[in-house]
Amino acid sequence: MEKPWSGRFKERTDRLVESFTESLSFDRRLYRHDIEGSIAHARMLAKVGLISDEEMRRIVEGLEEIKGEIEEGTFPFSTSFEDIHMNIERRLVEKIGEAGEKLHTGRSRNDQIALDLRLYLRDEIGRILSLLRELEKALLHQAEQNMDAILPGYTHLQRAQPVSLAHHLLAYMDMFRRDEERYRDCLKRVNRMPLGSGALAGSTLPLDRRYVAELLNFPEIVENSMDAVSDRDFCIEFVSTSSILMMHLSRLGEELILWSTEEFGFLELPDAFTTGSSMMPQKKNPDVAELIRGKAGRIYGNLLCLLTIMKALPLTYNRDMQEDKPPLFDTVDTITACLSILPPMLHRARFNRERMKEATERGFLEATDIAEYLVMKGLPFRRAHHVVGSIVSYCLEKGKTFKDLSLKEWRSFSPLFEEDVLSVVDVEGALDRRKVEGGGGREDIRRRIERLKEELGP
Ligand code: ARG
Repeated sequence: MEKPWSGRFKERTDRLVESFTESLSFDRRLYRHDIEGSIAHARMLAKVGLISDEEMRRIVEGLEEIKGEIEEGTFPFSTSFEDIHMNIERRLVEKIGEAGEKLHTGRSRNDQIALDLRLYLRDEIGRILSLLRELEKALLHQAEQNMDAILPGYTHLQRAQPVSLAHHLLAYMDMFRRDEERYRDCLKRVNRMPLGSGALAGSTLPLDRRYVAELLNFPEIVENSMDAVSDRDFCIEFVSTSSILMMHLSRLGEELILWSTEEFGFLELPDAFTTGSSMMPQKKNPDVAELIRGKAGRIYGNLLCLLTIMKALPLTYNRDMQEDKPPLFDTVDTITACLSILPPMLHRARFNRERMKEATERGFLEATDIAEYLVMKGLPFRRAHHVVGSIVSYCLEKGKTFKDLSLKEWRSFSPLFEEDVLSVVDVEGALDRRKVEGGGGREDIRRRIERLKEELGP
């Protein structure tokens, strides 16, 4: 069968060119959305009288049959018809003849692929949002189980101040909640209908763009036809949002890796979510978390790839833009894989509360609270900081912790110390003393968890 555009050519396309230019090998995953868009287009053509109702019915039936063939694996794909769009159209003509030849009226593959990508991403964002929800629920579950577990909070990876495990985990919760917001926001701009733009300059035919938008459930159209066929910023925005999510996932992955080392010992990952070594019989490795960390690099690469493809392209469509699909699809697949595996792994992770607690006992984690104790007794903070610094230095010299100091020793550093300082050096009490909103005190965490339970649902 001839190519749809063969009219002006005297020579057949070189095989090398066919295999070089084809996109069928990767864009066939758009078949459902391509068919959905074509059905809406055909309905519109019938509505404005460019095809008859009978022709429209035959087109719709033919396209439904084609969908069945693709899903059953009997569809005769051929790379000599370049892409998914031409493969489906050619098959339709094969099936229904002349009516099939009318489908592409007032349409170009340029606005067709823009539509397909938008329909596809709209679905994928919806799926990603529900996977993100599962991750948030797994985090919430662990936070709730671990409200009283206390561990060192770190800066510079040095022990800094005691925090509850719930507070630490809920920090990730807030990152993922923002990722969710970013996807929802991105969806607003994905959710615009480009069809009717033709190759670049609309059409002389009386196409009804608003009707197509309505049929496909788009709240708005992409107004400017030149923009509609040449814009891929909605894809870039999706991959950029995904890059930020991957950055968050890789930080969580990194902490799971660190915490499950012998050195930290804060965490045991479930056997089913770890792997062994081919040589060292004793090993249990956190490969899943490591791969999540690694895959972040891949998504950043996809972002840079898309930005670079689009950089300096003159308006409107250029074939370069076909290269948008591999990085886009890879991003969807990678995000889906990471978000599917993390919730069950996290749900079953076991935290070692004793080891965490022990870790808070060395490193003078109460130092800031003690300085604040002095502030409450009237000492300027800078001076309080200095006093506590000297106490730390004294303890280091004597091999003592704050807990080992007698009231007499405390008072030798400042007469402001009284009996009640002894309660400040108790880390357990630290969480009760944190009063500031969002500071991870017991009350604060309880409130946050209650609110999240309402927001996330069962
Ligand atoms: N396969 C093409 C792509 O993915 C579809 C648009 C082709 N348009 C064209 N004028 N060759 O970008």
